[in-house]
Amino acid sequence: MTQSSLQETARTLVGNGRGILAADESTGTCTKRLNGVGVQSTEDTRRDYRGMLFSAAGAGDFISGVILYDETLRQKTAAGKPFTELLLEQNIIPGIKVDTGAKNLAGTAGEKVTEGLDGLRERLAEYHALGARFAKWRAVIRIADGEPSHYCLDANAHALARYAALCQEAGIVPIVEPEVLMDGNHTLERCEQVTRWTHEMVFNALYHHRVALEGILLKPNMIISGKDCEGRASVNEVADATVSCLLNSVPAAVPGIVFLSGGQSEVEASAHLNAMNARHPGLPWAMSFSYGRALQQSALKTWAGEADKIPAAQAAFLHRARCNSAARNGKYSEAMEAEAR
Ligand code: 13P
Repeated sequence: MTQSSLQETARTLVGNGRGILAADESTGTCTKRLNGVGVQSTEDTRRDYRGMLFSAAGAGDFISGVILYDETLRQKTAAGKPFTELLLEQNIIPGIKVDTGAKNLAGTAGEKVTEGLDGLRERLAEYHALGARFAKWRAVIRIADGEPSHYCLDANAHALARYAALCQEAGIVPIVEPEVLMDGNHTLERCEQVTRWTHEMVFNALYHHRVALEGILLKPNMIISGKDCEGRASVNEVADATVSCLLNSVPAAVPGIVFLSGGQSEVEASAHLNAMNARHPGLPWAMSFSYGRALQQSALKTWAGEADKIPAAQAAFLHRARCNSAARNGKYSEAMEAEAR
């Protein structure tokens, strides 16, 4: 795989006003989500839920790629069609989450380091053979008193860079995801300071690990007030602070930035992405989405395990996909939400 095909995949993932659906919840997280709407989590219900999203007609107009979990990458629809084939028919590129989760970092009071490097070269070769053309690895950074530590950022940046280098060797575009969590009462300014420091450490590690920046996507958090912060920042403040942070910390060679939603509501996530693109045209990288909850919440609730609700759930999913695609072009408005009612 040449560097130019990695670049082409990365550009396709953020081109034509499209973005990414993160449907790579681990079995544990997927079980929590399904139980939340009264559905028992089995291999079949997880398949039915994911299959409902992937088969929504026209999803490929707004969604360029789907991040899958190991189980899902290997699954077929109830009618026996591999999910990878279904996605390709929808003009959607299959991707795969390859980290094995965030674990306690030794010697800290609960800071996390993401694991999954052992055997990764072999797993990536298999994932490529199964059809995955991009991957995801998520580092989790918590803001608290005296946190994050330099040690935590260094360990996570190192792991992200080793993962990214292995992906590129395997012909797979790495999505590099250092998530600074929204949990806590920190201000917008503190989020910006920590996120900028995180990006500086991550790009320094990517440089040392010889990763070609043209062949990656960055998946960052937005610069946003902590969930419990009093007087949370406005949509425009979030948009301006996020763009300023990214301009200061993300090299122009990176083709695209695909935000996570991180616990924002569906409407908030669309409004923030829209404000960034509407207020800041002409930036060096495309700014799009790689949302999990902000694309799935309404669809999951509408579906709730009922086969006869599939059309309504698919409509709910397509509505969010359409809104976020508009936001990626700075063309989203509140009126779009009303149209769907
Ligand atoms: P959320 O958009 O729900 O934060 O999920 C995105 C994701 O993939 C987190 O790793």
